[in-house]
Amino acid sequence: MPSDHETAPDPLVAAARKAADNAHSPYSGWRVGAAAVFAGAEGPPFVGANVENGSYGLTICAERTAIFAGVVAGYRRLLRIALTCTDAAGDRVRGIVPCGACLQVIAEFGTRDTEIVIDGGGTFRLADFLPRPFGSDVTVPGRGT
Ligand code: THU
Repeated sequence: MPSDHETAPDPLVAAARKAADNAHSPYSGWRVGAAAVFAGAEGPPFVGANVENGSYGLTICAERTAIFAGVVAGYRRLLRIALTCTDAAGDRVRGIVPCGACLQVIAEFGTRDTEIVIDGGGTFRLADFLPRPFGSDVTVPGRGT
């Protein structure tokens, strides 16, 4: 089996990897990159990387910087987002999953079918990770309004 270093990555994953080079992560050493495709947006995807802060709680994740770049450019319908991550040793973290906050932001602009492509981990849908995002139309199962 060839490793993912030998196989050409999905172009969206390649864009995420490039964005990860610009992560600002002096505290964790994790470089996370994301690349987002929005409906109606032509040209390259919107990319983001994690930006950490000395006041740790102010850190923002790669997924949100990518999504917000697309939103600020005027797009609202998120179709697909790719995610990549290396740890402090520079090794790929294959099991990375978007954090809960990022999943909720994906839910804001996506649907349950929005694709989440994880570098070395496979392709998923938002509903795989967050089947019931917070929202005005969401209720506890079996409970009605
Ligand atoms: N991080 C992301 O960029 N995306 C996630 O979904 C989870 C975590 C970043 C935040 C922080 O800079 C580093 O990974 C370690 O938590």
